[in-house]
Amino acid sequence: MADTFDVIIIGSGPGGYVCALRATQLGLKVACVEKRTTLGGTCLNVGCIPSKALLQSSENFHETMHTWKDHGIMVEGVTIDLARMQARKGEVVSANVKGIEFLFKKNKVTWLKGEGRITAPGKVSVDGVEYSAKHIVIATGSESIPLPGVEVDEKRIVTSTGALELDQIPRHLVVIGGGYIGLELGSVWHRLGAEVTVVEFLDRLVPGVDGEVGKTFERILGKQGIKFRLSTKVTQADTSGARVALTLEPAKGGAAETLEADVVLLAIGRRAYTEGLGTKEIGVETDERGRVKVDAHWATNIPGIYAIGDVISGPMLAHKAEDEGVALAERLVGQAGHVNYDVIPGVIYTWPEVASIGRTEEQLKADGVAYSIGKFPFTANARARAMNATEGFVKILADKTTDLILGAHIIGPDAGTLIAELATAMEFGASSEDVARTCHAHPTLNEAVKEAALAVEGRALHI
Ligand code: FAD
Ligand code: NAI
Repeated sequence: MADTFDVIIIGSGPGGYVCALRATQLGLKVACVEKRTTLGGTCLNVGCIPSKALLQSSENFHETMHTWKDHGIMVEGVTIDLARMQARKGEVVSANVKGIEFLFKKNKVTWLKGEGRITAPGKVSVDGVEYSAKHIVIATGSESIPLPGVEVDEKRIVTSTGALELDQIPRHLVVIGGGYIGLELGSVWHRLGAEVTVVEFLDRLVPGVDGEVGKTFERILGKQGIKFRLSTKVTQADTSGARVALTLEPAKGGAAETLEADVVLLAIGRRAYTEGLGTKEIGVETDERGRVKVDAHWATNIPGIYAIGDVISGPMLAHKAEDEGVALAERLVGQAGHVNYDVIPGVIYTWPEVASIGRTEEQLKADGVAYSIGKFPFTANARARAMNATEGFVKILADKTTDLILGAHIIGPDAGTLIAELATAMEFGASSEDVARTCHAHPTLNEAVKEAALAVEGRALHI
């Protein structure tokens, strides 16, 4: 007879593995199907973790070369051992994915190795072996979106996966797409010495991020030396020569031109991944973008089948997938698991970092909400000055009448860490005054958050 579980989760990314751990904590018998040779999904294997490892290494190199001298530290003869840098990245990934395997063993989650296919409600086949479960969770994640005319070979035309594996620093890296991946991985290779050109279809970078932050970001990255071709599209990549010849056209039509690259990174977004899963055959509904449709409690239209993470709508972020995994596991045992989609931070781990939560100024305007703005620049923050990291600002948007914080946007040093304070504040329904009246240690970068909160009422002290 087929092995039977309370829950079978397909996919072991941040959505799937966290759902598995929470479900076993709650007393369920859980299996997680993963077809990769390691657990952890896109995030741990080819996403968040390796990219942050390379961002850290490249930032260390860049600081050594360009900023230490301002501190009076003179170094000479600095070189890059790219093989070692890549090996260290591999070690970081390995420690993380093995960590999930350890947690699975400790919590008695069964790892079903192979490709999972839902053959009927309550039935999953893994490489031909049948298993049954009361609940099935689809957590199969996403894949990068292809661009016709630009064929990925993961050597010269790469997705993020290939861009994390380059064994030489390209002379000229052309990035198609000025979003999260393009700017993070573009930064990595630019810091290591590549000339980097970002070709973006829209007239701005990182659509979705507050406009003022986006503009400042473009200016700062431009000053660092990254080149931008906005309102431009790539229509063709010719790989017949020694270099890749890209055809560029103005987004709204006009004369085409050629741009040569040694490596092209295609990063125009990601799409839900359900290939081979059997969802079509059993009638699981998807939306116009191929994402699995779910209700407010992550249930699909087929009873007993649920979906979480990148494969459903919402931001494609690891922590969003994790929170859905926890909340769904709690729902499965009758608890009231919940995700507050209004308070999900997004962070771009460049230098400086960009972090956002809640609504942007553009969204508030579009929604007709009256708001106040409090802004504070890092140039006026003592700790940022001590760090030599004064670019950027904290911006808080609060309801004009109630003072409730509606959104917060930070560009600057450690923005990704600073945003957590505002996430907590927003989760507790705080007003800007609540943050402004909270004692913040001195001298810290967090004082810029407090000052921005004070600035909402025109009461900032250090500007
Ligand atoms: P995934 O992590 O994609 O996991 C899905 C898993 O399911 C995969 O391992 C896949 O092999 C498996 N699978 C699929 N189909 C089957 C099947 N039929 N049978 C068995 N297994 C199957 N997010 C952040 O929040 N912070 C970051 O810093 C960040 N950096 C990123 C950097 C890069 C380069 C990329 C590409 C993404 C990054 N992301 C980041 C996004 C993040 O990786 C995703 O949001 C997150 O991984 C989604 O988790 P998930 O569990 O939904 O799916
Ligand atoms: P993205 O959606 O962030 O950015 C894609 C960019 O490509 C957009 O600016 C878009 O306007 C542009 N674009 C689309 N079609 C184009 C075309 N034909 N030519 C030129 N530009 C075009 O997608 P990206 O960077 O691929 O990342 C995918 C997702 O992965 C992100 O949205 C994010 O959810 C996740 N991610 C998160 C990270 C983090 O949290 N730090 C890091 C990396 C990825």
